[in-house]
Amino acid sequence: MSDDELNPLMATNPRHIAIIMDGNGRWAQKRFMPRAFGHQAGVKAVRKIVEYCALQKVEVLTLFAFSSENWRRPEDEVSMLMGLFLATLQTEINKLDRNNIRLRFIGDRSAFSESLQSKMAEGEAQTQGNDALTLVIAANYGGRWDMCQACQQILDKMATGGLPQQAITEELIAQHLSTTDLPEPDLYIRTGGEQRVSNFMLWQLAYTEMYFTPTLWPDFDEQSLEAAIVSFKSRQRRFGHTGEQILNKSVTL
Ligand code: FPP
Repeated sequence: MSDDELNPLMATNPRHIAIIMDGNGRWAQKRFMPRAFGHQAGVKAVRKIVEYCALQKVEVLTLFAFSSENWRRPEDEVSMLMGLFLATLQTEINKLDRNNIRLRFIGDRSAFSESLQSKMAEGEAQTQGNDALTLVIAANYGGRWDMCQACQQILDKMATGGLPQQAITEELIAQHLSTTDLPEPDLYIRTGGEQRVSNFMLWQLAYTEMYFTPTLWPDFDEQSLEAAIVSFKSRQRRFGHTGEQILNKSVTL
């Protein structure tokens, strides 16, 4: 009996992988280096993982680069991270474009500098026609923020009479989230040993498979991602159904 017959959902690859890249600071501290050194090494890991996902034909990779709460970090670390994002975009946009990768940002970008905001817009515009991997960078993003901005949009439509109260469904809310045109994450990975969600895609993670690893982000490489995908593929996703229904193929998911 093949894997597929044993478990019809087992052999699928994740379409959307979402990652919290944790552990840059500790990686640097272990080497008696400043935290900035860890973030720079983190960018190198980002490159490897993006390339690997494109190779594996993953449709969407979302990376949590900066949370709404990361502004609470020391000022010099925040400004170092802003400089790193800008420098990375300056060097990477053309490479992403050449590799047919679409770049997207989610989060409240109004808090970023003009130069960063315009580079983000430029990266999105330049790559919008690409149809290999979609790389989503969550920047000044929070799951609660996402739900609030969805509510605000919906309430605006209700106030102008365009939307009756009965129209509020799960689908409608999902359509107003910043991820509206993307599949929900199949696999959520957090590096660095912590086992929490930290205000990442709260709505979208409802049925996502979770994978936690102690590996610090700069050390997370192709083999580490492959191990996460192997773990994902060994799980039976039931979406509320019973295991028997899945095995009998009596439901469509
Ligand atoms: C968490 O590690 C990491 C961050 C808050 C920043 C992540 C940013 C990068 C990897 C750069 C990516 C750049 C782009 C453009 C996508 P931490 O500092 O919390 O580590 P610690 O828990 O060991 O202190």
